Amino acid sequence: MAKKKKVKFKESIGLDIGEHSIKMVHLKKLHQGFALLNCESRSTIAEGVEPVRSDLSPDRFAPVLSSMLKTMKIKPRQIKRLVSSIGGENTSIKQIKTIFLPDDELESALFFEAKKHLPISGSEMMLDYQVRRVEEKSNNMHILLASATKELVNNHTNILTSAGIIPGIIDLEALGVANSFALNNPVDDGVYVLLDIGAFQTNMVVFGPDSKFFARNIDWGGFNFTKDIMKAKNMDYPEAEEYKFENGLKKDDNVSNKDSLIALDITEKTTAELMVQEIKRSLRFYVKEAGTSDFRKVLLSGGGAKLIGLAEYLNENLNIPTEVFNPFMSIEKPAKYSDETDPEFALAVGLALRPE
Ligand SMILES: Nc1ncnc2c1ncn2[C@@H]1O[C@H](COP(=O)(O)OP(=O)(O)OP(=O)(O)O)[C@@H](O)[C@H]1O
Ligand SMILES: [Mg+2]
Repeated sequence: MAKKKKVKFKESIGLDIGEHSIKMVHLKKLHQGFALLNCESRSTIAEGVEPVRSDLSPDRFAPVLSSMLKTMKIKPRQIKRLVSSIGGENTSIKQIKTIFLPDDELESALFFEAKKHLPISGSEMMLDYQVRRVEEKSNNMHILLASATKELVNNHTNILTSAGIIPGIIDLEALGVANSFALNNPVDDGVYVLLDIGAFQTNMVVFGPDSKFFARNIDWGGFNFTKDIMKAKNMDYPEAEEYKFENGLKKDDNVSNKDSLIALDITEKTTAELMVQEIKRSLRFYVKEAGTSDFRKVLLSGGGAKLIGLAEYLNENLNIPTEVFNPFMSIEKPAKYSDETDPEFALAVGLALRPE
């Protein structure tokens, strides 16, 4: 994750190809900070049809992407700087500590280190790294090691080229989410928990300016909340999705507690409960690994962050102040976007803000 660095580009596009929708953010560098030129989000899933993840075709992305570029009046060949992202189970990222190594030795040494720390399998893996900080006294280096399968990277670049786009920088989602927070809202101390809640998964990132970086994937997202409603209320997918948008996690006054979303059958945990359980487990692990529990805030982003009552539910159950993150908080906006605070753009903004 990047610290504040001098930015060399004039304009930048952040592209988040999510399983549910594609988000694109076009930023312009100002003398100080950034201005929003344009942003667009478009679903890649047919409306009103329950999405079956394994049936979703990867071919669906390119046409949506092409049409978004048209709307945003961006000619794919004229894009000067593009940062897109990959994530999920075929990627991993870990912060490690090593003795000081000069640049020319770092890469080969890290390749061997990576084998110890990441689920890496030789030539099928791509590896990248970033030095987070060097300790003053010991000279020890704290390094972020990132890896992804070549297959995943190839699938991603195929989507881009099918839409006529030349692939640019490809970042990991966890780093994009962290940059969205760190570059938009720099903090001096404490540890922050970021939850980027998509349709089928949640990117959890825990870090602080002086604390270890930790990221993991949680296998639940907005879709699972809809599934809970389908079950609890015996609704079909479009009805449940609509109910979710209107009511979120709010308890329904007209039905008994037993039928409400938060209290399903006691033998079956709700998505909200399962999420809390997983987050708590990860935070316990973080405390052990990083030696700090100075959690200041939980910040929610992604489409799933808009679920009514979720921030309050997490606040109560995690006992950490929780709020929905506004990815445009420090970005200048034209009149057309003056009210834009949509947390679903968090990753795309973080990608566009990446300094190098
Ligand atoms: N106002 C809202 N209230 C509740 N849920 C919402 C709202 N708006 C969007 N969602 C949910 O957000 C989810 C989509 O979020 P998002 O666009 O961030 O996913 P994605 O990035 O495409 O998916 P993934 O990150 O899993 O690849 C859907 O499950 C949708 O129902
Ligand atoms: Mg997403």
